[in-house]
Amino acid sequence: MTTEPRYVPAAGRESLTKFYDLGIKITMREGAWRSALAEAVTAGAPATIVDIGCGTGTLTLAIAARTTAKVVGIDGDAQILALARKKSGAEAIDWREAYADRLPLDDASVDRVVTSLVLHHLAPATKVAALNEMFRVLRPGGSLFVADWGKPHGPATRAAFFGLQLLDGFANTADHARGLIPRYIADAGFVSIARIDRLRTIAGTFEILRATRP
Ligand SMILES: C[S@@+](CC[C@H](N)C(=O)[O-])C[C@H]1O[C@@H](n2cnc3c(N)ncnc32)[C@H](O)[C@@H]1O
Repeated sequence: MTTEPRYVPAAGRESLTKFYDLGIKITMREGAWRSALAEAVTAGAPATIVDIGCGTGTLTLAIAARTTAKVVGIDGDAQILALARKKSGAEAIDWREAYADRLPLDDASVDRVVTSLVLHHLAPATKVAALNEMFRVLRPGGSLFVADWGKPHGPATRAAFFGLQLLDGFANTADHARGLIPRYIADAGFVSIARIDRLRTIAGTFEILRATRP
């Protein structure tokens, strides 16, 4: 059903999905970036916002709380969407089970796409296909926000990222450690690619990129 060599669930293993929110809270310094990302995504009164690989919906819900836009949360895993749907405020979101490389959305129908901690789950060819899909569904002038692992600050963050690679896989994470994600985004056709945040976490260097569909 998927083009993925291995579908990598939220916490790396299906059995760990129920602990995902707790794990992220402990490891990802969420206070330093989730709210700021939700603010950036909702700025400028967009009409439609899509969160791809929304997982348990933490970011999707933070976005919905800040906007009157239609908010769509897409994930390929029914188990994690079930957790998202149980959260307070979930009724405001259009949750859909679908893969990032086959989005159930019309061409040029979306003002903002955000994808947080998802690209590193995808094999290189699927990253390309997913970014092409994000480009397809965005309106000209629409914005893409990618929050994910980037080139480590130095040896300590590189060593920390090795632990994440053991859990989530090497083939899908290697290009993150090489700092190649901005190039993937450019190759999909996006312009004005900018890094808007970069932080050290205990699992590696995390960064937030913004780009525009011309
Ligand atoms: C680490 S979680 C991130 C969840 C959420 N975006 C966040 O910021 O906490 C990665 C999510 O991507 C989803 N995912 C992985 N591969 C996918 C694919 N090919 N299509 C759609 N979702 C995918 C997983 O099911 C999981 O929920």
